[in-house]
Amino acid sequence: MQLLNLKNQALALIDQAGSPEELKQLQIDLLGRKSELNQTLKTLAKLPPEEKINLGRQVNETKNAIESALNERRQQLGGRTDQWLDVTAPGKQPPLGHLHPISQAIEEIQRLFEHLGFTRVRYPEVDWDWYVFEALNMPADHPARDEWETIFIDAPKHPKLGQMVLTTHTSNGQVREMERVKTPPIRMLNIGKCYRRQQDPTHTVMFHQFEGLVIDKGISIPHLKGTLDYFGREFFGPKIKSRIRPFHFQFTEPSFEVDFTCTACSGRGCRFCKSGWVEVGGAGMVHPNVLKAGKIDPRVFSGFAFGWGVERVLRLKPGLNIDDIRMLYSSQPEFLNQF
Ligand code: DAH
Repeated sequence: MQLLNLKNQALALIDQAGSPEELKQLQIDLLGRKSELNQTLKTLAKLPPEEKINLGRQVNETKNAIESALNERRQQLGGRTDQWLDVTAPGKQPPLGHLHPISQAIEEIQRLFEHLGFTRVRYPEVDWDWYVFEALNMPADHPARDEWETIFIDAPKHPKLGQMVLTTHTSNGQVREMERVKTPPIRMLNIGKCYRRQQDPTHTVMFHQFEGLVIDKGISIPHLKGTLDYFGREFFGPKIKSRIRPFHFQFTEPSFEVDFTCTACSGRGCRFCKSGWVEVGGAGMVHPNVLKAGKIDPRVFSGFAFGWGVERVLRLKPGLNIDDIRMLYSSQPEFLNQF
């Protein structure tokens, strides 16, 4: 009788419970070590055998009834039940990251040029004035230096190599590579970070360039043009052609600006390109003074070089339409997940 009361009271309490937490507490109170039911269980030992069996059964029934009432209510309240597991339910897939679009572009550029026998190298991001300007035929105070909005490092000057600067272009790798290889042939691809004081939709303070340098006996402009056409075809698409226009750089003679067929209009001319061509960067035949700075004899060897922005060529890839390259460095997953 006493147990029947206990059970009815317990079931009423469970029915009124309003949250999984309350149910948890009830479970402790009704079935735990200090519960009335458990105390009753302890008295069993002292009872004569028939009474023991009888009471034992009642205690068990009460316990089972309370347990299933607890489970039922838990399900009604939307809490977790320990009794049910769907082993066929699909697992949760953790989100997977991927390489940043610029890293992807760098890998692709590297692979393309490796097919032509270029070796990828890396040279310092913080370099001496000598490698960035002076050895590239730009003596101190030369007005051509104004083109590069240079960020200088506030550190003591090197007696021979001058001041430290953040590399403004990957051309700093040219003379460093000549020093490393010493005797041509040289087929260098230098990809690295560059820095300039600039910020607008098509420029960021930090950006990436890739620089090609080929030096050997008998290298001439057709070798450069062939390399440019190869890059255009492979990187932008089979119908893309290159065009070189006369220009001026201190470290090349002759110098060119390099255009590719506009990928947005396939060269017909559009709002974006106007002429059907889009400029990607500079190139030219390595200036004799630059070869001399790298201790290579310009009477024996000649070479070509080019240097372009990774962000710039990525932006021009068909279908990408990146209006504002600052987005690439915005750390916005919504933007980056598209690549
Ligand atoms: N360094 C130049 C720049 O950043 C680009 C360039 C022009 C690189 C001509 C070259 C070259 O190798 O031959 O604007």
